[in-house]
Amino acid sequence: MLPLLAAGVLDDALKFRAPDSIRPLKTNQMPGGQKGNGMRKMFEELDYCPTPIGALSLRRRHDLRLGVDVWEIMLGQDFLMTSHFTASEVALGRLGVAACDGDALDIVVGGLGLGYTAQAVLAAPGVATLRVVEYLAPVIEWHETGILPMGTQLADDPRCQFTQGDFFAMATGTGFDPAHSGRRFDAVLADIDHAPDHLLDDRSDSFYRVEGLRALKRNLKPGGIFGLWSDKLIDDRFLSRLSEAFPQAWAEPVTFDNPLTGRPFTQTVYLARAERA
Ligand SMILES: C[S@@+](CC[C@H](N)C(=O)[O-])C[C@H]1O[C@@H](n2cnc3c(N)ncnc32)[C@H](O)[C@@H]1O
Repeated sequence: MLPLLAAGVLDDALKFRAPDSIRPLKTNQMPGGQKGNGMRKMFEELDYCPTPIGALSLRRRHDLRLGVDVWEIMLGQDFLMTSHFTASEVALGRLGVAACDGDALDIVVGGLGLGYTAQAVLAAPGVATLRVVEYLAPVIEWHETGILPMGTQLADDPRCQFTQGDFFAMATGTGFDPAHSGRRFDAVLADIDHAPDHLLDDRSDSFYRVEGLRALKRNLKPGGIFGLWSDKLIDDRFLSRLSEAFPQAWAEPVTFDNPLTGRPFTQTVYLARAERA
């Protein structure tokens, strides 16, 4: 859901980050949506970080109509993630792990966001390790300091490790474990762009082509699973490319009730399995 960021852009971005850009928590800004000493504000900007690619911000607002707190990550005017709708992010984690063979599974999630996909992976049976690859350091910091709805749940889980880096560069390069070049995983589950044909940065386009998907497959153990989140309905052209790169590929529609419109909404989880031998 976020544009692919060119290598080096993050480093530049962080240089632009004012030391006081993370605002200290106030007494009524408690992690996990808990109430503190004071009244909860209707709107709070919990972090703001100017970057050359736009302002990254984390905010919490109270939705009066639904009577719930909503947490949002924004880059400029683009919504990267909201706590309002998490069904398909959770489904990516659950379906991806469920499709794996065996146990003691080693999983990679690309794109940390508010952490719902990673949380679903860790809640699934048989997961031994989870590596979450996230490009923006502030997003990792939010999980480490616990200012998100799930607090430090991910950071506290000894199976979970955050790696700051460009998922796409790692997928097509030396892999997702900087300490072990070429390490293979049972599943790689990605939620970064809006959809395979709706990229916020065209530089990630090659990843979604057959050659890019074949390169990603090299990070998987025999029979390993690639999962991809999409905001849209099934795209037959992408599914066809996925089927060309993998011996088995399928798509799972995820439909949920949109409380804002009162109507069902469908997103998609693509799944593919590498050759078993
Ligand atoms: C839509 S959010 C992920 C939402 C997540 N599935 C959840 O459950 O909250 C996309 C995330 O991908 C990150 N991201 C963007 N470009 C990336 C890249 N090239 N490599 C790794 N992470 C990236 C963003 O900073 C953001 O945290």
